[in-house]
Amino acid sequence: MADIAPPPLPRGLKAFDLTGHVALVTGASSGIGRSFAGALVDAGARVVMAARREDRLQAMVKELGPDKAAYVVADVGDLAGLAAMAAAARKPFGDPDIVVNVAGNTVRKAAEDLSPAEFLSVIQVQLMAPLHVAQQFYPAMKAKGWGRIVNIGSITTSHALPGTTAYAACKSGIAGLTRAMAKDWGPHGVTANAICPGFFPTELTEPVVADAKRWQNNADRTFLGRNGVTEDMHGALVMLCSEAGRYVSGQMLYVDAGFTAN
Ligand SMILES: NC(=O)c1ccc[n+]([C@@H]2O[C@H](COP(=O)([O-])OP(=O)(O)OC[C@H]3O[C@@H](n4cnc5c(N)ncnc54)[C@H](OP(=O)(O)O)[C@@H]3O)[C@@H](O)[C@H]2O)c1
Repeated sequence: MADIAPPPLPRGLKAFDLTGHVALVTGASSGIGRSFAGALVDAGARVVMAARREDRLQAMVKELGPDKAAYVVADVGDLAGLAAMAAAARKPFGDPDIVVNVAGNTVRKAAEDLSPAEFLSVIQVQLMAPLHVAQQFYPAMKAKGWGRIVNIGSITTSHALPGTTAYAACKSGIAGLTRAMAKDWGPHGVTANAICPGFFPTELTEPVVADAKRWQNNADRTFLGRNGVTEDMHGALVMLCSEAGRYVSGQMLYVDAGFTAN
């Protein structure tokens, strides 16, 4: 590949401007995905949101505006249904050139108790879907010579936490998957990275938040002494999705106030 200098980077905050881009955000009906859809719209993108709960997605479109946001109802764990999901996702604003894979589930069980069906249910949503969703949109990104993939890792991408066998296997796998996507797709202008969040109160973490001692311990282990709010990740997200992040690829960006560095 020729070592050609890129065009000049837009100056200042213009480098973070997502005007003209279309993002697909999975898992946008709650928690981190919901927050990320709003952040991308705030940065200028139009967003197609995918999840299973239609009432939530409808409310999001109302909130963000139908000129900026649309939705598709989809179970991303149903891998055979992803081509139909992608066809529906292209309709409102054209081909997404940003894919943010946020949909996530878990089965909280000790390693000795996890069944094959439970393990597979997490693998399909947390590890296979990020690749197979992105695959739907990669050909258009390749044709354009520009694309952004953002996956979601976790503390368990690199550290053990109790009761997370399936989840940790997937989130560790996200590291290898993201690097492989970045390697294969980089020559066509597509970056792939993962944001690895610390602890954020969402539906998924309700059982962790409910354990006040554990929640406080998590906060205490960070350098800032608090758990996260989803807005804490917006800067990292917009950077990775924009021209500002154009030379960042194959990386795990921990947004955890130092939890994993402590
Ligand atoms: N919260 C944290 O502290 C934290 C930390 C590290 C990593 N994460 C990761 O962040 C991601 C988002 O989690 P969250 O904390 O925001 O939890 P959440 O509020 O429970 O959100 C999960 C989202 O995923 C969607 N989803 C789940 N299964 C799906 C499926 N089969 N098909 C389509 N959508 C599906 C849900 O929507 P529907 O139910 O409507 O389909 C929901 O929108 C996950 O990958 C999670 O592992 C979270």
